[in-house]
Parts: sequence; structure tokens; C-alpha cells
Amino acid sequence: MGTEVRATNITWHGGEVTSEMRQDRMRQRGATVWLTGLSASGKSTIARDLERKLHEGGRISYVLDGDNIRHGLNKDLGFSPKDREENIRRIGEVAALFTDANLIVITAFISPYRQDRDNVRKLMKEGQFIEVHVDCDVDTCEKRDPKGLYQKAKAGQIPEFTGISAPYEAPLKPEIVIPSARMSVDEAAGLLMTYLRKNRFLL
Ligand code: ADX
Repeated sequence: MGTEVRATNITWHGGEVTSEMRQDRMRQRGATVWLTGLSASGKSTIARDLERKLHEGGRISYVLDGDNIRHGLNKDLGFSPKDREENIRRIGEVAALFTDANLIVITAFISPYRQDRDNVRKLMKEGQFIEVHVDCDVDTCEKRDPKGLYQKAKAGQIPEFTGISAPYEAPLKPEIVIPSARMSVDEAAGLLMTYLRKNRFLL
């Protein structure tokens, strides 16, 4: 399923400031740390902890978070497969722009469809898209249920709820898996910091 292209007579303009110039200035290489997993799996908490760790280390990062983006940019979208596809497509474009601007972007969206995540990967240069499976079984998520949504979904009050009445397609070859049911937030964010350091995103 593709997005219809309506714009014509448009030309892409490159700038004079190159990626390398930005990297030298900012002591980092832009990347998107894409957290995917069930609601209540820990994506947002890990994203915030990683952002704080990066900030404390003098790095420049930015979190894009499911609930927040749905208050603004994507407030016209619901949770049908088509709307979720469009949700992830728009976020992917924003993440790609921020990554090109040399930020360390951290995203926290369920992003349940493999194809949608793969499409985002294609928007970026090799290595820049870091897919992280925040892997938490549905029973644990249900027990946590910080927003009471699993309970509502089970009572039939939320249709198409991921893990209950809508699918979640786990990544086949994620760069990183975080078993968040048996790993602390600090450990999880630490693991991501190590990956960023090892792969020379932090210079
Ligand atoms: S995604 O599937 O399109 O990636 P996204 O991460 O933006 O979802 O939003 C998920 C958040 O919306 C959940 O954390 C939850 O708070 C809320 N939500 C409301 N309805 C649903 C639903 N039907 N399925 C999943 N999450 C929902």
C-alpha cells in the first residue's frame, strides 16, 4: 500500500552544510533508535531514560512518543491498520528529517506491522535505523496496565487493541532485543548507550 503522490513540478534542493560538517560540530552521528513493542512494554520509559543519559553525556537527542504525536501531528488518525500505517509513515518521515539533521532520535510507538517499520528503515542511510524490540509478554503488559487499557479492551470497550484484538508482528532481525519483563530501565537504556558508542554514533 503506497501513499498517493499529488505534488508535481517540485525539485529537491541539497544544502551546503554536509552530514560530515554536522557530525564534526555535534560530536555525534545522527540515528533513529526505533523502539517497537506492545502497549505498557516499557518503550516510553526506556526512551526517556536514554534521552536523559544522552543529554547528561552532552549529546543532542529527541523523543517522539506515541501518545504525544497522536495529540498533534497525527490527531486525525485512529487505530485501523490503514491509520496505523499512515501514523508510522509520517513519524518515519519526521524521524528521517531529524536524523538527517544529525540528532539521535528515539521513537516509542507500538508500530505493530513489520512492513511499516521496514518502510521507515528504507528512508534512512545504512545503519542509521536501529530497530529495538522491547519484548514483553502480553500477560506482563496486562498486569502492568498503567492506563487501564487492557482491562477496557478485554471488556470490549476498545476495539482493535494490540495484543488483544489486533496483531503485533515482532521484528525478525532487530538490531537489539530488550527483554523488558526481566531487565531494569537503567540496564535497558545502558544497553542502548553501549550500542550507540560501539557503533560510533557518539564521537
Ligand atoms: S501504533 O500502533 O499506531 O504504533 P501508537 O504507538 O501510535 O500506536 O499509539 C499507541 C497508544 O495509543 C497506546 O500506548 C495506547 O495508550 C493508545 N491506544 C488507544 N487505542 C489503542 C488501540 N486500539 N491499540 C493500541 N493502542 C491504543
